[in-house]
Amino acid sequence: MKIMVTGGAGFIGSNFIRYMLDKYPDVEIVNFDKLTYAGNLENLSGLESDRRYKFCRGDISNSSDVTAMLANDKFDSVVNFAAESHVDRSIHLGVFEFINTNISGTQVLIDAVIRHNVPRFLQVSTDEVYGSLGPQGKFSERSPVQPNNPYAATKASADFLVRAASKSHGLNAVITRCSNNFGPYQFPEKLIPLMIANATEGKDLPVYGDGLHVRDWIYVADHCSAIDLVLRKAEPGSVYNIGSEYDVPNIEIVKTIIRLLGKSDSLIKYVKDRPGHDRRYAMDSAKIREDLGWKPEHSFEKGMAKTIEWYMNNRGWWENIRSGAYKTYYDNMYGKRLKDVGGLVR
Ligand code: NAD
Ligand code: TYD
Repeated sequence: MKIMVTGGAGFIGSNFIRYMLDKYPDVEIVNFDKLTYAGNLENLSGLESDRRYKFCRGDISNSSDVTAMLANDKFDSVVNFAAESHVDRSIHLGVFEFINTNISGTQVLIDAVIRHNVPRFLQVSTDEVYGSLGPQGKFSERSPVQPNNPYAATKASADFLVRAASKSHGLNAVITRCSNNFGPYQFPEKLIPLMIANATEGKDLPVYGDGLHVRDWIYVADHCSAIDLVLRKAEPGSVYNIGSEYDVPNIEIVKTIIRLLGKSDSLIKYVKDRPGHDRRYAMDSAKIREDLGWKPEHSFEKGMAKTIEWYMNNRGWWENIRSGAYKTYYDNMYGKRLKDVGGLVR
């Protein structure tokens, strides 16, 4: 089994590579990644000497990079994690990088996969393509695709391109739509690692709006096991939702982190809300559970305990990120928001 993993130097991609190398002695993986601000080869440290693993720097939106890769090696599948993935960046810093990587990049991959007869393509998508739920109900694979922020719109566009290529060109493709992940190697701009890092350093914990926005939280290894199953077993053209069905308001997540770290609720700062902030996500993942026999192995408590332990044992990893380019981004993103405290909620 030889897999080209795109975006394997990011959070979920690096966890997926580790998961597959641990599980399958005979798997070979090429990690194809542009190394944007979110790509970090430290996420794969220890694998350099594994003969089954290779890193190759490249951009999925650059047709010659992708062609060079697929012309040189024969792959059984391509799994596309590569993306601009942060909603706040897509709103505040501009959407063109998102369009370039998430939409054009996916189409470049699709074309190359077809041209080089790669037998299988898996597109890693997100529950955010469905938009927001009211107080009742869950997203199923039949829910309308109604993205509300630029990031989600680009992911939805990519899903449609994958669907169109399977209908019009017979591409053997599957799509997974997962809920919010957490776990080791998540870039500390996302809610959970940001709160762990800030609380550890005694800094403010910026909660958007009233903190009652609901997300379904899944431990990253459970997302990886689901992708592995869908890659090997799902019918061509199928879409699978992946979720833990543990859906809670953000403020509860933040308070859990505070409690586990032995800190005080006084660190919580309600700040100006994210524009277009989806109120509630909840996943119906019955299809993958019934068709493929998947279930998550980690309760939220177990996953969170492992995550906090990892961030405590790997302070150097996130301190390096936060002291570098990330610092400028963080100041731009939150400088104004934190001044807005009191302007909003409570
Ligand atoms: P991430 O931001 O941590 O990593 C993205 C990786 O893609 C980085 O290594 C980056 O260098 C690479 N990359 C970006 N542009 C590229 C390009 N043009 N060519 C090659 N590589 C490029 O993201 P993540 O959280 O690991 O998410 C991975 C995928 O899973 C994304 O497609 C995302 O939409 C999806 N997803 C994420 C979540 C979540 O909770 N994080 C949930 C559901 C789905
Ligand atoms: P995030 O980790 O950015 O993931 P996504 O937007 O893909 O769901 O945010 C998760 C939730 O946490 C979302 O409702 C926004 C909220 N949030 C905060 O309240 N404060 C923060 O500093 C961040 C980054 C997110």
